[in-house]
Amino acid sequence: MKRIGMLTSGGDCQALNAAMRGVAKCMYNSGEDVEIYGFIDGYKGLIYGDFKLLQHRDFSGILTKGGTMLGSSRTPFKLIREPGENGIDKVDAMKQNYYKLRLDCLVILGGNGTHKTANLLREEGLNIVTLPKTIDNDLWGTDMTFGFQSAVDIATECIDCIHTTASSHGRVFIVEVMGHKVGWLTLNAGMAGGADIILLPEIPYDTKKIVDAIKKRHDNGSRFTIIAVAEGAISKEDAKLSKKEYKKKLEKSPYPSVSYEVAAKITELTGQEVRVTVPGHTQRGGSPCAYDRVFASRLGAEAGKLILKGEYGFMVGYRNREIVKVPLEDVAGKLKSVSPDAEIIKEAKMLGICFGD
Ligand code: F6P
Repeated sequence: MKRIGMLTSGGDCQALNAAMRGVAKCMYNSGEDVEIYGFIDGYKGLIYGDFKLLQHRDFSGILTKGGTMLGSSRTPFKLIREPGENGIDKVDAMKQNYYKLRLDCLVILGGNGTHKTANLLREEGLNIVTLPKTIDNDLWGTDMTFGFQSAVDIATECIDCIHTTASSHGRVFIVEVMGHKVGWLTLNAGMAGGADIILLPEIPYDTKKIVDAIKKRHDNGSRFTIIAVAEGAISKEDAKLSKKEYKKKLEKSPYPSVSYEVAAKITELTGQEVRVTVPGHTQRGGSPCAYDRVFASRLGAEAGKLILKGEYGFMVGYRNREIVKVPLEDVAGKLKSVSPDAEIIKEAKMLGICFGD
């Protein structure tokens, strides 16, 4: 008999259900007796003992469904040692609930913050297997996270739509793409959508370079310019500020996000109208794309296999086109960002894309 707990934590993304289904199917099909408990709203459910015993049928018909059937929430790692509701010790409470249900293992689906807590629980003696989810693709130890490709598709479609109206009106358009502190999503959607300028957190921009690129396009007869801006993009001047100074600057900023600041600067220097589009959380919503359905199902099945073998303490990741197990202690607390020297950046530059550097 294998008794496992499952939870989805942090911002949701497409294919969470597909991944959980993958784990469940693999385990049910193994012939072992299996009991799967789903914790509601991420670590919150594990802390406060909010769970349900899932049935075989709960995993049917969810392959194509976005969101997470278990619900999710953010439980910041930096507050994990702070007392919870009614002064509860959160780490202790999670351990107690794990032992009360006599679980063999916890399957945790999450991104960066989630992995820090998952590793802490491993250090505390719990058996943990994790799966890499996030539209940001910023998890260390895996070349790809599920949710990423679906989000790339949505952001690309947004840029495609902006393209037609931008060309009709001869305007400069900015599309602001999610991705938190990294530029994977913006880089991929920007290239797929044929953006002329791409601004990433990893490559601080110079507004003058952006304006030069717009002027060059104009002089070459192009009526419009599309700029894909990562939500975490930063100017060269701001990149010189300390974290504290930058935070202060943002607090006082009259702009709702970096794109509006870039737009205002372009207008100031060129007199041109600039429109900003922010697809926001649509990038995390809807059905997973075909790639993510297959990818998450594979990762889920491999996680099931590890649990059946009793191999714990790993994230199931994907490296060099192979599914691999990565020790949790190697993953926790590390960020995978875009290297400014990466081949893909060099290739994008060969295509004439300006990064504002
Ligand atoms: O980490 C996923 C993500 O969608 C980021 O791209 C974004 O910065 C953040 O979550 C948004 O978080 P929230 O849903 O809490 O606003």
